[in-house]
Amino acid sequence: MHKRRVRYRGTHPRRFEEKYKEHDPEKYGSDVEKILKSGKTPAGSHRPILVREVLEILRPGPGQIGLDATLGFGGHAVELLGRIVPGGRLLALDVDPIEIERTEQRLRKKGFGSDVLSVRRSNFAGALKLAGEAGGGFDFVLADLGVSSMQLDDPRRGFAFKYDGPLDLRLNPSRGQPASALIQRLSAEALEKILRENSDEPHAALIARSIFFRREEIQTTAALAGAVRQALSGVLKGMPEGEMTRSLRRTFQALRIAVNDEFSALEQLLRNMPLCLKPGGRAAVISFHAGEDQRVERFFKEGLERGVYSQAASSPVRASHEECYDNPRAASAMLRWALKRQEEIRS
Ligand SMILES: C[S@@+](CC[C@H](N)C(=O)[O-])C[C@H]1O[C@@H](n2cnc3c(N)ncnc32)[C@H](O)[C@@H]1O
Repeated sequence: MHKRRVRYRGTHPRRFEEKYKEHDPEKYGSDVEKILKSGKTPAGSHRPILVREVLEILRPGPGQIGLDATLGFGGHAVELLGRIVPGGRLLALDVDPIEIERTEQRLRKKGFGSDVLSVRRSNFAGALKLAGEAGGGFDFVLADLGVSSMQLDDPRRGFAFKYDGPLDLRLNPSRGQPASALIQRLSAEALEKILRENSDEPHAALIARSIFFRREEIQTTAALAGAVRQALSGVLKGMPEGEMTRSLRRTFQALRIAVNDEFSALEQLLRNMPLCLKPGGRAAVISFHAGEDQRVERFFKEGLERGVYSQAASSPVRASHEECYDNPRAASAMLRWALKRQEEIRS
């Protein structure tokens, strides 16, 4: 049946749901290519970051069994899958019940059947249970932390201050509480702690008080952004808009981390990582802010000191200038890696 083109005002679609070409890259390949070339990420998709570097570290090869702990749009997964056939298997996890289905369909259409790819809606905090399925451990584990572009860009998910929508911020909207509910039950001090500890927000006290006093009205992303702007309009007067944008981004990030209990899940994954890997197995973790990267660094360093890892990154691998130019979201990425020892340590 012929479908009417989506209607929008002006010459270009602006809203997420109006960008019908970007949502259908198979049909509008050349339009999507143009968007990619301009350094933007098409709506409803995600560009994998540090792909070459991840492949160099993980060295996926035919017959290997790997874990992609954060499937997202499946960009890294496609690259890994292409290298482990024939005979290999990739187990891919994501907590997001909405995007995981779309990604699985996309990967199945690309020809990756259930013999080579298993997709599970699951938190990577429970990855250890899956190591048994991999015959006692994985050859490699990848975790590309945080949120994907299609989650960020979808106003219905409430992840971004740029678009108005319900203030949700949950990776799995069917579990737990949305950020709007969390805000209602926190004191100004608790909010300040979240802003400080989860995103190093320098104006944490001012923002926390502003949110606390307006908490009942803060049900949408625009209302939260308004509370941050009101808190900082005085201190940031005359400063470039970038300062305000950074505080807005950090506020949304801090609440997202709290709503999804992201640091606990990450610590659980890192604690279990050596047990998830086969001897000689390889781990790569991509972080997007200091709170994540410091945890990855600490766990890998401790593993190295205890002798469970034979090597670990001494500093994070960063995206090249070219990659950051092509995809500005790569600029904050920090990739760390660790190699499990070949021989088991006897205690
Ligand atoms: C940066 S994206 C991954 C992008 C992916 N590497 C790609 O190439 O498309 C991060 C993904 O991890 C998922 N995620 C975040 N925390 C998670 C957790 N604790 N367990 C499982 N998935 C998680 C998010 O839902 C999101 O889809």
